[in-house]
Amino acid sequence: MEIRFETAPFENISTDAAAIICFEGEKPTGTIAVERPSTFDPEIAKQSGWLAELRESGEFTGKLYEQATFHRPEGVAAKRLVVIGAGKAENFSAVEARRIAGVLVRTLQPKGLKSIALLLPSGSGPEIGTAAAEGAILGGWEPDKYKSDPNKNSKALETFIISVPGSGQITDTAIRRAQIIAEAQNLTRDLVNEPANKLSPAALADAARELAAEYSLECEVLDQTAMEKLGMGALLGVARASSNPPFLIVLKYLPAKTFGSDHLALIGKGVTFDTGGVSIKPADGMEKMKYDMAGAGATLGAMKAIAQVKPSVQVTAYIPTVENMISGSAQRPGDIVTTLAGKTVEVLNTDAEGRLILADAITYAKQNGATHIVDAATLTGAIGIALGHHNIGAFTNNQEFLEKFFAASKTAGEKAWQLPMDEEYKDYLKSAFADLPNIGGRYGGSITAAWFLREFADPTPWVHLDIASTAWLDDGRPWLSKGPSGVGVRSFVQLALDWDGSRG
Ligand code: BES
Ligand code: ZN
Ligand code: ZN
Repeated sequence: MEIRFETAPFENISTDAAAIICFEGEKPTGTIAVERPSTFDPEIAKQSGWLAELRESGEFTGKLYEQATFHRPEGVAAKRLVVIGAGKAENFSAVEARRIAGVLVRTLQPKGLKSIALLLPSGSGPEIGTAAAEGAILGGWEPDKYKSDPNKNSKALETFIISVPGSGQITDTAIRRAQIIAEAQNLTRDLVNEPANKLSPAALADAARELAAEYSLECEVLDQTAMEKLGMGALLGVARASSNPPFLIVLKYLPAKTFGSDHLALIGKGVTFDTGGVSIKPADGMEKMKYDMAGAGATLGAMKAIAQVKPSVQVTAYIPTVENMISGSAQRPGDIVTTLAGKTVEVLNTDAEGRLILADAITYAKQNGATHIVDAATLTGAIGIALGHHNIGAFTNNQEFLEKFFAASKTAGEKAWQLPMDEEYKDYLKSAFADLPNIGGRYGGSITAAWFLREFADPTPWVHLDIASTAWLDDGRPWLSKGPSGVGVRSFVQLALDWDGSRG
């Protein structure tokens, strides 16, 4: 899909559909120029009659995502004029712009439309324009790769045009950057959508190698022998039962010029399937555990974008990837493994495998010079109990670093919410036989999981993102399909872009 910023008068843009945004509660007062003074080009004001009538009829109130379509309206070059509700004007932000663009694509593309133009409110800044560009690309993604008979229009849309009256603020560069980031997020969704029989740890490593070759990243893949030599006992313990061998994928981005000596590590949990191991999961819903590599997917997607938008900080991705299976060689509850850091762990539950593979990856990142670490992991079911499906769970050992992450995630339009890491919670992790158990008690499951990771991250500034309840949408949203959401990618890229070396 081509995304373009258009400065020509909106009514002259010749597309299959031209969409205008209308806010809730605006009372038409006879002429459209009065009704939408800030949004419309005066020329469009000629359309006043029908829009005023539409509102007066009560058929269109301007509620979010509400739509009305007019065919061949006079004075507009497009074949259709779509009026889309944007909710209350005072609540309108990049978030709504992203979603509105997604809704338009998701309602119009299935009908076979090839081109859409969206007129944004006049004076919209670059954050609104780039969000709309992202929303259009994200809205167009469908998890239909393995359907023999997908909707023939599922890729019909060729062009999405963003138009803002009288605005010179939105640049082609900004739109291009948004396109890179959204396409990277769609790569993440492609990877997460792959079932485990198609995406093994080896296939994930291949995807990383391909990415590295295409975007000039350095890629190194540690195999089982290399990890045995290093002593990654926690990661290898999880991998034991699978006939698909484990890997630790390392992808490096080196900027042409850096500020300071900061080195950001992005670490993504890459469990290509999680049966739970001997502490087996219930059958109901187990098929979803193919998305247990969503952290890895987000990390790879972010690296794809980072390689193109070229932030000024060194970024290395570490992706521990394994399959958590059951067999005669499976790890047992009660087994004690020795981590790369030297700490011993009593595996009380083989289903708490993510933290085991992340522990070794975090230590490896530190050994290789990481000064700041962010990990993304579908780590605990408990995070969904705590936060539902709308916020990533965020944890840290360094508040200043988390604030920097929050600033980035806000800009990127991804919601994250901090959970506490008081020292008291650490006491939930007690083993009689090893340095640490891999699970806490019944309560505060996401927090004890985070504390387990922290035992390996300290003292390096670290942010942990539990994306178990946000990486997969059981029900689609009007602006996003069901399935993998690609959460984390935009925040990761923005965090790297925001880097200025000030925390070196
Ligand atoms: N992959 C799961 C977490 C998960 C649950 C992700 C639901 C997505 C949706 C993780 O490996 C796991 O099984 N965690 C256990 C931890 C428990 C044994 C302490 C959990 O959350 O039940
Ligand atoms: Zn598990
Ligand atoms: Zn898991």
